[in-house]
Amino acid sequence: MNIGVLTSGGDASGMNAAIRAVVRTATLERMTVFGISFGYKGLCETSELKDPTPCLKQLKTEDVVRILGTGGTILKSARYLKFQRNFAERKQALENLQGNDITGLVVLGGDGSFRGAMALYKTNLKAKIIENLRIICIPCTIDNDIPCTKYTIGSDTALNTVLDCIDKIRDTAYSHKRAFLIQVMGRDCDYLPRMTSISSGAHIVLGPNDTADLNEIYKSIKHGFKKGKEFVIIIVAEGLKRIRNFNGKYVNLKTTSNKKYSAAEKIGQLISARPLEIRPVVLGHVQRGGRPSCFDRILATRFGVSAIKALSDNNILTNQPLMLALQNSSTTEDSINCIPLADVIKMLSKNANLKTHDKYQFISQAVIRGFSSKLKWPEYFKTTLKENCS
Ligand code: F6P
Repeated sequence: MNIGVLTSGGDASGMNAAIRAVVRTATLERMTVFGISFGYKGLCETSELKDPTPCLKQLKTEDVVRILGTGGTILKSARYLKFQRNFAERKQALENLQGNDITGLVVLGGDGSFRGAMALYKTNLKAKIIENLRIICIPCTIDNDIPCTKYTIGSDTALNTVLDCIDKIRDTAYSHKRAFLIQVMGRDCDYLPRMTSISSGAHIVLGPNDTADLNEIYKSIKHGFKKGKEFVIIIVAEGLKRIRNFNGKYVNLKTTSNKKYSAAEKIGQLISARPLEIRPVVLGHVQRGGRPSCFDRILATRFGVSAIKALSDNNILTNQPLMLALQNSSTTEDSINCIPLADVIKMLSKNANLKTHDKYQFISQAVIRGFSSKLKWPEYFKTTLKENCS
């Protein structure tokens, strides 16, 4: 069997570890692996010569040495929205795969990449280009916003990177007795801001869906300093949508001119109307790079091995695209399960913020000193006595 592997969308640390596991396991299974560069964009490319297809390069075991601990992706990545919209592009992609007898595809990416995989599958059903095309998706994104899986590759590394940056900023914040607004990536998902706020002991966290009020924030910072705090760290989600200014009016935090968020800078600007030393820091793409953490290397390796198992497993009686997911199991080990990709996409479409980490929202409310209010223990927050440990 010939298989292709591609990385698409924002890179995530651990992608290389997954590519390595795919190549090594596939080689043991006597499969031939083709690395596809620049994701779907590369896959759609045509060449005058047709042979070899320009984006495809055979990957052997020796091509994946010394990549386990490296960030980014050796295959390169691209955001290529055109792929989801354009039938002809997808048909070309299928023809490129077919030209190399590729009948299995491993897609590493996030929600956009998975929608692309689904569109490719549907195009193949219609155009009947590859018989028995199997597609396996591996969740990779620092945002950890993919339903059904506890973790996506890259989110743990990003979390540790952000934490490292906050620790450094804390040193200077302490030295000057200043407040800092630290903007964290994660799009509309609260995972990175929520987790970094808990693990860094931040004073306030403004998640993407929180209703932020400048008066409250200002009062809380002042109160903190008055009570003896030596520095104040406020985590701001890049996806924070709006804030109520000092006059009680809502200010939109998403800039329309360019799509990039700069919530922390805007809040910094607004708050500087009052006497307070505050600095915004937008951490940016530093969060996406770097050596993958131990957790991400192991998760990526498990996903990579499982992708080949799923491709070679004749007991999986479906040609529908599947996504690998890390899920709870009855034993202490989490297990990796194959989920129909259609189910994951349905959940993504129903509610973009489905995978909010509300348990952590409560935990952060309990320990973050930002706004003091009496705790209301939510239903799901249970401490259960179990009779035995099995
Ligand atoms: O999805 C990963 C992510 O890093 C988001 O957290 C962020 O909003 C986005 O990608 C940035 O994308 P780009 O690198 O294309 O600017």
